[in-house]
Amino acid sequence: MIKVAILGHGTVGSGVYEVFDMNAAKIAEAVGQPVEVKYVLDLRDFSHLPYGDKFVSDFSVIENDPEVTVVAEVMGGTGAAYEFTKRSLMAGKSVCTSNKELVATRGDELLKIAEENNVNYLFEASVGGGIPLLRPMMQCLAANEIVEIRGILNGTTNYILTQMIQNGVAFEDALKQAQANGYAEKDPTADIEGHDACRKISILSDLAFGDKFNPDEVPCEGITKITLEDIKQAEKLGYAVKLIGRAVKCDDGKVYAYVAPHLIDKHHPLASVEDVFNAIMIDGNATGDVMFYGKGAGKLATASAVVADMMDSIAHSEKRRDVSWGSGEKHLLKSIDTLSSKWYVRMQGEEGKIMPEMTTAEANKQFAQAESCMRIL
Ligand code: HSE
Repeated sequence: MIKVAILGHGTVGSGVYEVFDMNAAKIAEAVGQPVEVKYVLDLRDFSHLPYGDKFVSDFSVIENDPEVTVVAEVMGGTGAAYEFTKRSLMAGKSVCTSNKELVATRGDELLKIAEENNVNYLFEASVGGGIPLLRPMMQCLAANEIVEIRGILNGTTNYILTQMIQNGVAFEDALKQAQANGYAEKDPTADIEGHDACRKISILSDLAFGDKFNPDEVPCEGITKITLEDIKQAEKLGYAVKLIGRAVKCDDGKVYAYVAPHLIDKHHPLASVEDVFNAIMIDGNATGDVMFYGKGAGKLATASAVVADMMDSIAHSEKRRDVSWGSGEKHLLKSIDTLSSKWYVRMQGEEGKIMPEMTTAEANKQFAQAESCMRIL
């Protein structure tokens, strides 16, 4: 019998318990023995639940229990989540997480600690929710140089934009619906200002290019300035408005990485990605574009990726997965000032227009007075 623990009983944490419960037989068969959730860490009172006796509020109970070999960190944030992850790894327990903020900001350090303690730190659920993405990128596309990554990486904003495009729903109402459905982060600022997508493109870049991309340095713009007028104008011109996270490798080895709303031709596969769905296109120099599509947020979809990582940790308890990246010494991030694109521009009182290709620096100068200005993918 394998014993595991779950740190946090929010949306994803309760989903992790549910997946273990719902698929117990399948999971036991896959890892060769039954898996029991021995503890759930949460400060709140969940004694009314059928598994209420598993709750503990003191992390050291889990830390000091040698029976627990794998831990799911689904608390979020970088405070207690960081401390408990570090202590779990140092106690010889593998940690699997959906916490993109922690992976994006301190993943390099936590991966080193995991290596020193010969355990796993896995985070498939941190990007794309339930979509198998990081492992296929690192394993199945391993023979490629990654040339470009572009994707819809945030379910909440894609849901909001879809409501605006299809139903003419105002931004605030669509946000409320997304929160009611459990898609949005606790503080929706992280979704609507693009920070969540920024953490995800940073993690993808860390893995694809082998060095840390600090999310605080990656240029990031959300969807709060997009109006129904721009959605209508884009539609008329044959485009959909989408929030895109993008990383482009240049010939000098540097990388443009950023998050911003883009206009996407309606025939482009990313244009038809709707609601809470995410889609990520990875362009390998041998494969060309490969596209990953699925639910990027939501309780069970995200939990399924966390549990799969836990199963992988159990299966590889003898030989850990070799995942790592540098701590930013290579300074790979390149200023997007020199990135060239076509642009959508709308001046006050005028219709939106498509402008010819020019660099970001030129566009910023030329369209400084515009009501709105978005890159075209
Ligand atoms: N708030 C995130 C989203 C959750 O909407 O995509 C999944 O990371």
